[in-house]
Amino acid sequence: MVAEVNVNYLKDYQPADFMIKTVDLSFELLPNATLVTNRLSVEKLHPKSNLLKLNGENLELVSVRIDDQVLAKTDYQRDEQFLALSIEVTECVVEIITRVNPESNTALEGLYRSGGNYCTQCEAEGFRRITYFLDRPDVLSIYTTTIVADKSTNPVLLSNGNLIERGDLPNGRHFATWHDPFKKPCYLFALVAGNLAYIEDHYKAQDGRDICLRIYTDSGHLSKCRHAMDSLIHSMRWDEERFGRIYDLDIYMIVAVDDFNMGAMENKGLNIFNSKYVLADPQTATDTDFEGVEAVIAHEYFHNWTGNRITCRDWFQLTLKEGLTVFRDQEFTADRLSPAVKRIEDIKRLRSVQFPEDSGPTSHPIQPQSYIEMNNFYTMTVYEKGAEVVRLYQTLLGRDGFRKGMDLYFERHDGQAVTVQDFRQAMADANQVDLAQMHNWYVQSGTPILKIDTHYDAVNKRYQIHCQQSIPGLVDAKPQLIPIKVGLLSDLGEPLALYPAQNCADTIRIEADSAVLQLTQLQQSFEFIGIEKPPVPSLLREFSAPVKLQYDYRLDELEFLAQHDTDSFNRWESAQRLAVADLMHNVKRLQKGESYQLGESYARVFLRLLNEVNKGLAKDLALQAYALNLPDMSYMIEQYEQVDIEALLTAHQQMKQALGHLYYSELETAYQALNKVKPYSYNKEDIAQRMMKNRCLQYLMASKSPQVLPLAIAQYQAQANMTDVLVALETLSHSEADQAQACMDDFYKRWQDEPLVLDKWFALKASADRSNALEQVKDLIKHPKFSYRTPNRVRSVVGVFARQNLRAFHQISGQGYEWLADQILHLDETNPQVAARILTPLTHWSRYDDQRQQLMLAQLKRISQQAKSKDVYELVEKSLLVAD
Ligand code: TRP
Ligand code: ZN
Repeated sequence: MVAEVNVNYLKDYQPADFMIKTVDLSFELLPNATLVTNRLSVEKLHPKSNLLKLNGENLELVSVRIDDQVLAKTDYQRDEQFLALSIEVTECVVEIITRVNPESNTALEGLYRSGGNYCTQCEAEGFRRITYFLDRPDVLSIYTTTIVADKSTNPVLLSNGNLIERGDLPNGRHFATWHDPFKKPCYLFALVAGNLAYIEDHYKAQDGRDICLRIYTDSGHLSKCRHAMDSLIHSMRWDEERFGRIYDLDIYMIVAVDDFNMGAMENKGLNIFNSKYVLADPQTATDTDFEGVEAVIAHEYFHNWTGNRITCRDWFQLTLKEGLTVFRDQEFTADRLSPAVKRIEDIKRLRSVQFPEDSGPTSHPIQPQSYIEMNNFYTMTVYEKGAEVVRLYQTLLGRDGFRKGMDLYFERHDGQAVTVQDFRQAMADANQVDLAQMHNWYVQSGTPILKIDTHYDAVNKRYQIHCQQSIPGLVDAKPQLIPIKVGLLSDLGEPLALYPAQNCADTIRIEADSAVLQLTQLQQSFEFIGIEKPPVPSLLREFSAPVKLQYDYRLDELEFLAQHDTDSFNRWESAQRLAVADLMHNVKRLQKGESYQLGESYARVFLRLLNEVNKGLAKDLALQAYALNLPDMSYMIEQYEQVDIEALLTAHQQMKQALGHLYYSELETAYQALNKVKPYSYNKEDIAQRMMKNRCLQYLMASKSPQVLPLAIAQYQAQANMTDVLVALETLSHSEADQAQACMDDFYKRWQDEPLVLDKWFALKASADRSNALEQVKDLIKHPKFSYRTPNRVRSVVGVFARQNLRAFHQISGQGYEWLADQILHLDETNPQVAARILTPLTHWSRYDDQRQQLMLAQLKRISQQAKSKDVYELVEKSLLVAD
């Protein structure tokens, strides 16, 4: 039971009454009792306000002084959340001394210990667990930080900005003082201390300055930092070239830690990273891991301008920095690898994870209007849908127009804490257009449905595209501005030249063989002239808006588009639509007691794609491999109001088996041809080749043909690189065969002392589709290497089981749900942020059958009665609210 909850509303925003110009911090580090001295120069902004209410949580208060006058207990008010001081003068220096316990901090917010080192995490509201402060992003100050610690155990002492002084002290202690010349909110403060090694490189900035780059980690992991360093250098160059943004300090530091709640944190000049997004080498990291490192390094680096130099006025503006920075890292990865492949990866994730969030009980707009626990709003919606909304500006304004808007945004708001409206205004003013309607994307939640009908007028040779938008459950939804990129293909598969009819010339922009339709109304028609024969429409090219497109495609049209569309995204999308149709059709068959029967359309597309690979006609093997990949289960579940989870799992598995069986020889030919031994290199072509080869192996294994087991075992035993090893092992993990389990054991023995690789072993065990899966996962949390203290490990076991082992998690006994609830309640006591995140699968209860709904709701109710954190409380209450 949660004692007291406090809801924060956007409409209540008020500027602060006080400004904090400078912050002088001093830390005397001790594992169980760190002393924090905090000297604030405070300036009153409102002559009438005399009360300075500073945030503070879990702090032991040692003393308070105002202008060197010690305050007595009766001179201030203090409770669990605030320290309130009466300030009579317009300017003064407040000195606050607090004591904190980093060692016992298992929530990993504020100052804590990871692997024997000290580190901090302040976003969103962790700084108040270090000292009393105006912990809100619109209070910007200049920080100077002195760290004092034992020198032998903490040779490295780091904070934001530049090192201005260091030296030795009596009793084996030493100190370092750092000064950050840029004003920043306290959520960007960071401190790191301990026994760390580093690699160093240099970057010559566009303005000629030499910037020192360092990556810190345990000395044993230094050899795995090169890829991260290269990624940083590529990011710095890209941001100069694409957006004209140059780095502003003389040093840029990244520290990798093993215990971290999320991916990484953009603290000014001193990023702190989950080691998963720093460490990578061919033996320990997969292609996906390499890509993840590159993308997260880029993301945090890009925050220096979009987040740090220009920050958020309040936490309701989170998407201002996150949506924009995700968009920037997406564009970076697209340029590094392949735009089409990156777009497919992002949309797969958006539709499998963000769409369900947007249609569930925790649905919220990208600019939430209220929150109880801010940590719950670092969501796929704020990040990924937020990035899609930023992309809408670029689609509407073009790349150059978008760049002009960005330039104006930086020029106007550098050094400020601003809102999403300020961003939109800069985009509008720089391009002299009215973007007011874009506001609706920020305040309406739910994925819009875009329903399209087309009509061909053979007499006048005109083709009409009629569009209708709506948001499910939102009766008075305001129309959103939706750019719809379309193309028309002739019956020979040639792109048709597009001429807008006169009456809609203003709402259609032509771009090569595509047209961008600007849908601004609830219903609107667009017309093209001079169309000689009925065309095949290619709709929502590049996924030009985050909507659900409803259009009655015939199967033969989809098959045609999967082959001929000039838009790579829509070629993939058409193949996906065929696979979805096949699965949905077969779920119905299974429900009627009939057997699975592979439909011809997807099978033909599958064979053609495979033949192209075998004949050397495939231009991009990664696109080919994605088109051969079936839609994942979360996306399939999204297709149903209420899903028959068992039938769907069976159909999904049988479809893979049927394809593997039917095209066994083609798959084997492709597999053998692509399975060439060569040294690992992280580049587009090699990644694509490995992806295609491994797709073949997956289908071959899915065929359940006995002769394929040796193929997977041989690929495992070759130990060529982690990408190949892990795919082989994943296919083996579901098998009961002794040799398959021997590979699992071998993997454990090799990697038991490498936490990031051992996480992969835990994840494979937790996701293995075996009859005793729940027993297995119960054993896993008793394994000596399992720990609730390390979020990566918890996610590999608990998170993976609930999201990926669907048969075991959704077993009709309800024991899967009960076990997850036990885990949530356990973590609620130690790490509420992680507890709240692993709760997500239960929030989707309404998608399942009545019996499972009741079982899931029963566990949600049990959690609601016992949970203590605001984090878990907020999500559980929202999930139960819609149930009544
Ligand atoms: N700002 C970080 C990012 O997107 C994410 C973040 C927010 C975070 N809160 C956190 C990271 C807490 C770790 C812990 O890059
Ligand atoms: Zn971010």
